[in-house]
Amino acid sequence: MKEYLKKDPWHIIEEGFHPEYNRISESVFSIGNGYMGQRANFEESYTGDSLQGSYMAGVYYPDKTIVGWWKNGYPEYFAKVLNSTKWIGLEIRINGEVLDLAKVNIVDFKRDLDMRNGLLCRSFHIKMPSGADIHVEASRFMSLSRPENAVMAYKLMCSDRNIELQISSTLDGNVTNQDANYQEMFWDHHMEEISSDTMTVSMTTRKTAFTNMVKASHKLSINDKKVKISPETETAAGFCRQSYSIDLECASSFKLEKYISAVSSRDYEKENLAEEASKKLQAALRVGYDGLFAEHSSAWHDKWELSDLTIKGDVSAQQGIRFNIFQMLQTYTGRDERLNIGPKGFTGEKYGGSTYWDTEAYCIPFYLGCSDPSIARNLLIYRYKHLEKAIENAEKLGFTGGAALYPMVTMNGEECHNEWEITFEEIHRNGAIAYAIWNYINSTGDDNYLREYGLEVLIAIGRFWAQRSTFSKHKKKYVILGVTGPNEYENNVNNNWYTNTMAAWCMNYAIEAVNLVQSDFPTDYERIVKKTAFSLDELKDFEERSRNMHFPEDEASGVFLQQDGYLDKEDLTTDDLSDKDRPLNQNWSWDRILRSCFIKQADVLQGLFFFEDRYDRETLKKNFDYYEPKTVHESSLSSCVHSILASRIGYEKKAYEMYLRTARLDLDDYNNDTDDGCHITSMAGTWMAIVMGFGGLKYQHTEIQLNPTLPSAWQSYAFHIIHKDSVLGIEVLRDKVCVSNKGKNSIKIKIYNTEISIEPGTVEELSS
Ligand code: BGC
Repeated sequence: MKEYLKKDPWHIIEEGFHPEYNRISESVFSIGNGYMGQRANFEESYTGDSLQGSYMAGVYYPDKTIVGWWKNGYPEYFAKVLNSTKWIGLEIRINGEVLDLAKVNIVDFKRDLDMRNGLLCRSFHIKMPSGADIHVEASRFMSLSRPENAVMAYKLMCSDRNIELQISSTLDGNVTNQDANYQEMFWDHHMEEISSDTMTVSMTTRKTAFTNMVKASHKLSINDKKVKISPETETAAGFCRQSYSIDLECASSFKLEKYISAVSSRDYEKENLAEEASKKLQAALRVGYDGLFAEHSSAWHDKWELSDLTIKGDVSAQQGIRFNIFQMLQTYTGRDERLNIGPKGFTGEKYGGSTYWDTEAYCIPFYLGCSDPSIARNLLIYRYKHLEKAIENAEKLGFTGGAALYPMVTMNGEECHNEWEITFEEIHRNGAIAYAIWNYINSTGDDNYLREYGLEVLIAIGRFWAQRSTFSKHKKKYVILGVTGPNEYENNVNNNWYTNTMAAWCMNYAIEAVNLVQSDFPTDYERIVKKTAFSLDELKDFEERSRNMHFPEDEASGVFLQQDGYLDKEDLTTDDLSDKDRPLNQNWSWDRILRSCFIKQADVLQGLFFFEDRYDRETLKKNFDYYEPKTVHESSLSSCVHSILASRIGYEKKAYEMYLRTARLDLDDYNNDTDDGCHITSMAGTWMAIVMGFGGLKYQHTEIQLNPTLPSAWQSYAFHIIHKDSVLGIEVLRDKVCVSNKGKNSIKIKIYNTEISIEPGTVEELSS
């Protein structure tokens, strides 16, 4: 755990340069706008340790799979979001010496991410090897209001002498992915050009043929007065450079503003890219840095108005949750239903920027709770659009008749994952996709979603479970063999309780959904039955299988068993592990991990969290008490589920401990792995830990229930919930809960089991 970042409610601050943590800072200080993102790499040259990253959402490359032993059904490639044209580049020479923070004497250094306004700033004072005292202030943002634009400003001053300054600004498309399987270039250069002061680099991905075009123009000033300096120019394949030479007097400042437009053939015909990029660039230049920033900051303010969560009395927790919300909001804006949320968002290459079950299990509740419902709906539609591919994916594995298996990892609907124990066995992911549909409808009341899109998905998923379960004569039950549950530290197990629970629930939900569409939307029902060739016999089969599914349980203790045979393992807890053992995945052999009882992330507990209403508190407690001590939380998705369940069973201390772990996972680098990117999808879990854990939020048949508690370290906390057409403001204080109705209709909610009705524009208070 590292604690080098300063605690502040709205800012992430690094004071003094920490080169040993530079990759971590580059991840943490990343910025994005849903359309593109940028790690916090330095603008100027830097020869120290760094992971360069400029990403454009949805532009990917199918990197040929590497496997030792090829298994039928493996995908040919892993789709990766690419490091793309580096637009921030500057090369700076002062009296001929290169400015490189790895090679100068740093007097002062500060990096500051202003989360309220989505602005990254950096300032430093250095002594060059020649002794020149250089002061720099740099800032940049990726416009939230104009997603295809980004801007940066770089101001430099020498305080002790006149200098010859040379600043070269570059666009560089010759970038590679560090995670490339064969160290190949993923891009071919398409064109590069410098004309009328504008640099243009256009690159095309190999195989997928996406073309990106980036244009850049500059505005220069000395002592804040505009100047025009003719640059020297240079182009090479996929590369442009404009160099400005200035004799800068002592204490005078030189500022370069770099305006960017970045467009892609995902959105425009290739032949129109140049015109579109020029239009966007010219518009940005006309508005100027301050105007663009004002728009951008106002867009951020609008987002924060609904999504912010304030905590009084604990700045560390406040910073943690804001950071998590900030990253979620800048990773996915819901504007484009072709996009999704990679586990590392725009902060690194790991996980390829592709879509995992994380979206449905973790991110959708966040967007549903505090954003316009269209955002969650778009995430569901993304999967609907991949349904055909999910059916093809299931067919590859031998399933028939319209059964769908959604991929473990995907970009365009095709499976990218290639480890048999996950690709073929971690099938619980299908359940999360059905669960998200239920979650969305349950909280918005939008039954139309079922008839328009949802039902087809539910039928296809139900069919998969029906074919994947088999009847055991011995158990006289349906069983699901050879799976990996959410706990990836067990592979190829039989009857994973979570998977079987999900499978039975999915088949039941499909039955419910069929019945609902049949009665409320008969025309759509006819259409869907025809399209999917669905028969009533299938419903009977779903019913039979879900009613007679096997759920392993230890009858003596009433604990649900993670899988058949789990009790045969050596009964240990994490107290039996030493610091040298952890994290297990870095210190133990894989077979030792598989044989042990240690759990990577919530598994049975994940199921109890999803289906909590079926179980009494005693059952939740028994299972929590049994599994929590065996869980090593080596997935970032683990702590939030534990925090929520701990809140539900009144384990306040544990709930808070788990909350802090999820909220500051990246800020404090708990798992020693933030250097390759932040854990974006688990950040949604942090929000859940507060709102659903401490706040006790539940949706019950579109009714809202709250059961708030206040962690003893906090004075109060407050958040908004979007519910149907209403916005509710909830403030939890030591002795009371205040709920305000900020919508237009009166709304009924249950707080501590008391039903209250709140009129628009009014506030109700309840003692806690
Ligand atoms: C977790 C998976 C998760 C993936 C991406 C893995 O470590 O075990 O559940 O989907 O990370 O976040």
